[in-house]
Amino acid sequence: MDAATLPRTPALASRLPQVGTTIFTVMSALASEHGAVNLGQGFPDFGCDPALLDAVDAAMRAGHNQYPPMTGVPALRQAVADKVEKLYGRRYDANTEVTVTAGATQAILTAILAVVHPGDEVIVLEPCYDSYVPNIELAGGRVVRVPLTPGSFRPDFDKIAAAITPRTRALLINSPHNPSGMCWTEAEMRALDALLAPTDVLLISDEVYEHMVFDGLPHQSAARYPGLAARAFIVSSFGKTYHVTGWKVGTVVAPAPLMAEFRKVHQFNVFTVNTPMQHALATYMANPAPYLELAAFYQRKRDLFREGLSTTRFRLLPGEGTYFQCVDISNLAVPERDLPEGDFCQWLTREIGVAAIPLSAFYGDGFDQRVVRFCFAKKDDTLREAIKRLARL
Ligand SMILES: Cc1ncc(COP(=O)(O)O)c(C=O)c1O
Repeated sequence: MDAATLPRTPALASRLPQVGTTIFTVMSALASEHGAVNLGQGFPDFGCDPALLDAVDAAMRAGHNQYPPMTGVPALRQAVADKVEKLYGRRYDANTEVTVTAGATQAILTAILAVVHPGDEVIVLEPCYDSYVPNIELAGGRVVRVPLTPGSFRPDFDKIAAAITPRTRALLINSPHNPSGMCWTEAEMRALDALLAPTDVLLISDEVYEHMVFDGLPHQSAARYPGLAARAFIVSSFGKTYHVTGWKVGTVVAPAPLMAEFRKVHQFNVFTVNTPMQHALATYMANPAPYLELAAFYQRKRDLFREGLSTTRFRLLPGEGTYFQCVDISNLAVPERDLPEGDFCQWLTREIGVAAIPLSAFYGDGFDQRVVRFCFAKKDDTLREAIKRLARL
């Protein structure tokens, strides 16, 4: 055989040339290689409620093992519609306005694919979750990056307003916010409502940490604001709420005309989501206590972690929500404090034995503000061990 007839894998022009291995994978691998306490990637190191596992077992044994309806198991869609109405005061129709997804990640991608045409502009507020930008690029959209205010991470409405053009198709927001823990206030949601009211800009509201807002404050869901809800896909995740990130089950709610388009893409994307998990979640949701008590559960861990770091040279940034705590490293008593954030995190993992995520990973241009993110969704003992190690700095 000459070279021309040898089996040959054709070369590809990448659809996502900028994308490499995510920082979360890199840091988790480094953490396990060095036996570090992994406060990098955002997932709990403790189990879920055994009652939820029993509900899965019961659902499987009851024979719920074949394809469910494309839009999700009716009882789960109903439970989600009821919960959203009870908490945020807006009634979504369980049949036409609620869809169960394979985690929030798929919900966000599907919403973007459903509404973004090639050349449309989509605004993201940086720092932002790492899937948004590649999602927009896959849809052929143009990413418009608007920074949140450095330090406070609060939305800057002048900057958002300046970014809106006749080509703007959608704005992506995330509250409570990963990585900063910032939570939008009522005044900010109202300001957004007023800003978008005269436009046709859609809103994709990533609310996966909706049940982790601390200090007694309410979660400002877009569902509370009729003007925003009328243009919004609102996304949530059972993985975050019930300590089962590996199950990858989420939901999206949206007005019927938006949801109809969402479902066209969903149908040929995943089609359906794991049946027994959906039945189990529907059963488990009958008791609101686990999601209503989640904020107190994580607030205690936030306080334990913040208290432990308060005597160190890490400067704590506000921690209003999520299970992340950001810290400024510029006052540390070691020369490595001057390393770029990413190199600092690698050094911290290797030499101090605690993995963190650099905030620069959440910016397109790698903006470095001397801040790293820790995840405190960990057992108290894990957090105490991390604090002990970090106290050396
Ligand atoms: C802001 C944000 N959105 C979406 C997701 C993805 O959620 P899921 O695991 O349900 O796909 C995460 C997970 O870390 C997240 O932090």
